[in-house]
Amino acid sequence: MSRAAGVLTLSILVLHGPNLNLLGLREPQIYGKTTLAEIDLLLQAEAKVLEVGVVSRQSNHEGVLIDAIHHAIQQHQGIVINAGAYTHTSVALRDAIAAVGMPTVEVHLSNIYCREAFRHHSYIAGVAIGQISGFGAESYRLGLQALVQYLRRKEA
Ligand code: DQA
Repeated sequence: MSRAAGVLTLSILVLHGPNLNLLGLREPQIYGKTTLAEIDLLLQAEAKVLEVGVVSRQSNHEGVLIDAIHHAIQQHQGIVINAGAYTHTSVALRDAIAAVGMPTVEVHLSNIYCREAFRHHSYIAGVAIGQISGFGAESYRLGLQALVQYLRRKEA
């Protein structure tokens, strides 16, 4: 938590996984035309409304995402993650989230349950407090809102 004008502020880490840097160009019929930079701006605007801090990071590398989760312990109170394809493959990412024990919300732009069968299983879901899937860029905003509400309830 950071302290601004004597008030403790929640800080949330938003992690974007592989290929999400190509949003806007990448299969727009599935993921829409919104770019990652626009999603990050939308999250900053929502952060202001919610009066929290949001730090966004994107990586195409599993180990970099794992390191970011480990470092989150010292700096953040919760995580919003779109692990991209690692959602369906990475026991290591799941273990990292379980290891830090931080409240984590899983988000997806597309509805993974309406797509290919290999996308129906998420390794992240079992260690997340919840999952939001299918609302495009809005999934991130909803995920952030849900996480902040969860953390504030826990604090109260
Ligand atoms: C995704 C869904 C995944 O199946 C896919 O591999 C992605 C994006 C989504 O946001 O809809 O990269 O996580």
